[in-house]
Amino acid sequence: MNDDRTSHRVVEPHILYFGTPVVLLSTIDPDGEVNLAPISSAWALDRTVVLGLGPDGQTSRNLAARPELVVNVPGPGLWRQVERLGATTGRADAPHFVRDKFGHAGLTAQPSELVAPPRVAECPLQLEARAADLRADATGEFLVVEVHVLRVHAADSITVPGTDYVEPAAWSPLVYNFRHYFGLGAELGHSARSRTPRA
Ligand SMILES: Cc1cc2nc3c(=O)[nH]c(=O)nc-3n(C[C@H](O)[C@H](O)[C@H](O)COP(=O)(O)O)c2cc1C
Repeated sequence: MNDDRTSHRVVEPHILYFGTPVVLLSTIDPDGEVNLAPISSAWALDRTVVLGLGPDGQTSRNLAARPELVVNVPGPGLWRQVERLGATTGRADAPHFVRDKFGHAGLTAQPSELVAPPRVAECPLQLEARAADLRADATGEFLVVEVHVLRVHAADSITVPGTDYVEPAAWSPLVYNFRHYFGLGAELGHSARSRTPRA
């Protein structure tokens, strides 16, 4: 058995990306220019999603000016598109500027229902949302953004037919694990709170 308790040492890793799902944020600037950027610092509490953003990117600028977004959640099959987007910025004054991020990544814009930024059609989960709060973190290096989810779109292929549940056996996030991309492995078990247990 692999016993994780017996041998540790102190390390200074460059980053602490211990495995969080990647999301693609679509935002729009006051002139109607659409932006799309990958983010792995995202977690959900009920209908709130908290995001960690670099303050200098176009996504932060767009949210400060117009607090609407879609949190698009890709599956593992989209890792190359995500990686391609990560090397670009929507800032016209910066190197690696790309105006048409959707076209650059080969992704399809799909109109949203409640917010101006479009959804990413290829993402099985799409959360239309409003940024309720943007503030600097305690170090002043990052922005912490609280977004409230207004509407959830889920692909038929990952839902339990006839219900509002996502089928965990059908869905896998794209996980950013110390700068490498992974999908989920086989199921280990389920929580007592699961609404979709299998017999
Ligand atoms: C997998 C992945 C995860 C990322 N996670 C974050 C993140 O959590 N926060 C952040 O600010 N940037 C993150 N980035 C970097 C941004 O995507 C990158 O800075 C991008 O240029 C921002 O684009 P924008 O200036 O158009 O907003 C990530 C990039 C990749 C590829």
